[in-house]
Amino acid sequence: MAISDLALIEAWKDVLTLSRLTPGEQVSLLVSDDSNPQLVSTARTAVGQLGGVLTILTLPPLNGDVALSRDKSGYVGHTALKGNRPALEAMKHSDLVIDTMMLLFSPEQEEILKTGARMLLACEPPEVMLRMKPTLDDARRATNAANRLAKAKTLTVTSKAGTDFRCSIGQYPVLKQQGFVDRKGGWDHWPSCFVATWPDEGSCEGVIVIDTGDILLPFKRYAREPIHISIEGGWIRKIEGGFEAEYLRSYMDSFDDPDAYAMAHVGWGLHKKAHWTTLGLYDREAGLSMDARSFYGNFLWSSGPNTEAGGTRDTPCHMDIPLRGHSLSLDGEPMTIDGKVIPEDQN
Ligand SMILES: [Fe+2]
Repeated sequence: MAISDLALIEAWKDVLTLSRLTPGEQVSLLVSDDSNPQLVSTARTAVGQLGGVLTILTLPPLNGDVALSRDKSGYVGHTALKGNRPALEAMKHSDLVIDTMMLLFSPEQEEILKTGARMLLACEPPEVMLRMKPTLDDARRATNAANRLAKAKTLTVTSKAGTDFRCSIGQYPVLKQQGFVDRKGGWDHWPSCFVATWPDEGSCEGVIVIDTGDILLPFKRYAREPIHISIEGGWIRKIEGGFEAEYLRSYMDSFDDPDAYAMAHVGWGLHKKAHWTTLGLYDREAGLSMDARSFYGNFLWSSGPNTEAGGTRDTPCHMDIPLRGHSLSLDGEPMTIDGKVIPEDQN
């Protein structure tokens, strides 16, 4: 459903205020051909009304001939910013970068963040952004979960469908997504609310079962039958099942990159206005499916790159797989049981 410019401008102002935008700050708005025009125009107005000094950077599209889909997460890490020194310098000299293009997983993003600029990714459909507009309560839940995750040494996950997975954690930083970015050098994504970290190298072991109805991204499809993922020493060793498993294997193989099979971030969803069901109601190309990545109590695991965590694996193949009905514990203490969030400080 359409959203009025006025409503979206007000939402931008709320999110930018939560992101501590103050008058006189330098704001870069990064745009490409597939940016949502209403998001861009309303962001312009909101930044102006809040007194930000705005620069709009429009870069050409890239990866269309190598990606297998039009999803922004279908081919990651290699962006039009590579080799574009003027654009990169503009962002490195910004206080806040609003990214409607998707720099996530690129080395240039890391370079920008190291300067202390804060970055906010925004590329979902306007009505999804409005429904999932971040609040301080989202930030409270995500911060409490992130604090627990930062102290933990082991993460275990089970499910009635057969998942039995464990890894040690602590080698890599915690990723907290709360929908707005309020700290220097921070990165966040509107809309989003989840926490994750990357397992210690070589420590992932066990089986993850993607059950019927679970979601595979960037396929943006509900699995129609179970897929059994066998993991040893931090790597996906086997993907077994019927058609769904064969499809997943073939897709990952097509990148011809062994790093595609590395385990990447693991964590759980904390957004109370994100829904598992919205994927079935939307055109696949409408957005990134942040509902799926964020819905309350999911177990979100992924494969491929770890550059976002400071690692060196920069494979363009990145699967995000949010699962329902899982039980996730940190050092034996349940964070979720059968897909329900347990700790009171995350409710
Ligand atoms: Fe991911």
